[in-house]
Amino acid sequence: MSRTLLIIKPDATERNLIGYIIDRLERARFKIVEMRMISLSVQQAREFYEIHKERPFYESLVTFMTSGTVVPVVLEKDNAIADLRALVGATNPKEAACGTIRYDIGRDVQENSVHASDSDENATREISFFFGT
Ligand code: RTP
Ligand code: MG
Repeated sequence: MSRTLLIIKPDATERNLIGYIIDRLERARFKIVEMRMISLSVQQAREFYEIHKERPFYESLVTFMTSGTVVPVVLEKDNAIADLRALVGATNPKEAACGTIRYDIGRDVQENSVHASDSDENATREISFFFGT
């Protein structure tokens, strides 16, 4: 078993899609280990996305991620990181495969409804960012 972090982003919480996303995760056999509802401060969002700080979309991403409620969720499953990335789909919903969460509910390349950890190292860091170790 391994663990990964998903975040339900503000574009999804605003459209009342928390339950829908959790249902998709459970149907795909992820176990919900921890979960909370929070508002990120600008400082927290900057720190969480520090790896993107040189990217042109960084400030816009921080503004978006602080615009509403987010729901970080720790998930457990065999092959959790790769399986969650597959279920979530490509960053841009227009390029995401049919049947992925972003294909179904993502709005655009920024407001793409969910975040998913992309490596073991980042999953560990991101889980401890929200929930401690
Ligand atoms: P995530 O980290 O949220 O799971 O998404 P990802 O790995 O598919 O994408 P990443 O490259 O890590 O980018 C993080 C988030 O930044 C926003 N983004 N905007 N305007 C743009 O071109 C652009 N590119 C990325 C998205 O919200 C993306 O999920
Ligand atoms: Mg990423």
